[in-house]
Amino acid sequence: MEREELDARLSEMNRQAELGGGQARIDKQHAQGKLTARERVDALLDPGTFVEIGRFVTHDCVDFGMEQQKILGDGVVTGHGRIDGRLVYVFAQDFTVFGGSLSAAHARKVCKIMDLAMRNGAPVFGLNDSGGARIQEGVASLGGYADIFLRNTLASGVVPQISAILGPCAGGAVYSPAITDFIAMVEGTSYMFVTGPDVIKTVTHEIVSKEDLGGADTHNSVSGVAHFQVPDEKAMFALLRELLSYIPQNNLEEAPPRPTDDPHDRATPELVELVPTNPNRPYDIKELIAAIADEQRFLEVASGYAQNIVVGFLRLGGRSVGVVANQPNMLAGCLDVNSSIKAARFVRFCDAFNIPLLTLVDVPGFLPGTAQEYGGIIKHGAKLLYAFAEATVPKVTLITRKAYGGAYDVMNSKHIRADLNFAFPTAEIAVMGAEGAVNILYRRELATSPDPEQARKGKVEQYRERFANPYDAASKGYIDAVIRPEHTRRVLVDAFDSLEGKRDQNPPRKHGNIPL
Ligand code: HXC
Repeated sequence: MEREELDARLSEMNRQAELGGGQARIDKQHAQGKLTARERVDALLDPGTFVEIGRFVTHDCVDFGMEQQKILGDGVVTGHGRIDGRLVYVFAQDFTVFGGSLSAAHARKVCKIMDLAMRNGAPVFGLNDSGGARIQEGVASLGGYADIFLRNTLASGVVPQISAILGPCAGGAVYSPAITDFIAMVEGTSYMFVTGPDVIKTVTHEIVSKEDLGGADTHNSVSGVAHFQVPDEKAMFALLRELLSYIPQNNLEEAPPRPTDDPHDRATPELVELVPTNPNRPYDIKELIAAIADEQRFLEVASGYAQNIVVGFLRLGGRSVGVVANQPNMLAGCLDVNSSIKAARFVRFCDAFNIPLLTLVDVPGFLPGTAQEYGGIIKHGAKLLYAFAEATVPKVTLITRKAYGGAYDVMNSKHIRADLNFAFPTAEIAVMGAEGAVNILYRRELATSPDPEQARKGKVEQYRERFANPYDAASKGYIDAVIRPEHTRRVLVDAFDSLEGKRDQNPPRKHGNIPL
């Protein structure tokens, strides 16, 4: 063949591969407010950095006339590129090709880039938009999924895995994103469910729309399956890039520092008034987080789910830090089943990827009630305790107000290996609140008192004086310093600086047995 012919053949194959399922299907995708797989890859990565792998792969199915229908790439665009100059691997399912459905060849492409990501210690981004198992391929497709699930599992805690849901994600296919570290969904065009509305109607007679069953709202506020929701795809790719900025390449590295002009010792006088001295008055812990963060930037994770606990990423003096904070604005900041699970998973992510942990405590205890007990608060609360206890990253705790009962222990107390524990003067560290304690301790005495109300007040005051402050804990060394709110940022930046070289480890074992 002449050189021109060789050249022309390659150009034609490239053109075909880039066209995916054809212009009509691309137009349909656009009409739904969705980008194509290639447009998504370009939107995610630094311009011009994408290097494609497996562009000419086709399926090998010979049933249902499939041998006549081969489309280059077979419904998934795979390769590597850069985000802020950092190497990442990406796969983007192409809905214009057989509905993005997963064939054995499609699965092999995904597995190949996951293997490369593992070998090279780089994050994997999965851009999901698929009708699920390629129906024409039967068990070969199911096997392909399982090959991916295995790799998701082996990569867990080694390289970050981030899933964007940009269209359908149904059946067992949901389990690949579910094993990854973060799931982000687009409002209106993405959904995830194990069994769809039609099957549900047949089996349980429930009538539910796709959106209500598995849309972005549902998974971000009801089920807790997803961690982020965004209004459109443009916002999705901005979010994914920002998320990566807080995360290292792999479990042997640290997140890249981001230099800041925000002074390390900037005073935070707004915190003096933020935390009320009255233990019954709520406030928004996110205001505290924003006040101490570099440039007041905070990327909240799972903001719509279990809002009684707040988790997310900020930087302190340029260093990426994961924060776990009780939210007094919601259920008074009580710990319950959902908040324990949410926070435990976040703590384990940070620990796996060397991201230091800041814990902000204002917790009246675990939420009482049969719903919680029957729901397994014992095992779910234990998850959070376990996660904090096993974490070996630098761990700093600040008690802003209440730290009562078991929740004091759980919320990264000194006893479970926190490195530095601080408290505001408003902190109350005790087995329970003063009112509750007095009711139990002095029930009989108060009942026989000539003026029970006056007597109660006196006892409450006495108890508060003795226990409802940070000084008893400080005298025992459980609190390292009682700090003024206006010094919070400076103290925390210094604390994490001092822990930069921390080395700690757990006993050798196959793996622990976290109460799942
Ligand atoms: C092969 C598929 C496909 C699939 C869609 N297509 N899903 N081809 N296998 N699973 C094809 C369609 O035939 C169509 O081809 C094109 O993709 C677009 O599909 P439409 O139906 O026209 O699109 P839309 O109306 O947007 O509906 C999208 C959809 C629907 C909701 C995803 O296609 C659908 O319900 N598909 C089947 C979903 C499913 O049951 N999958 C198997 C689930 S079980 P043309 O040529 O017309 O463009 C599963 C198990 C995984 O996934 C287990 C892992 C352990």
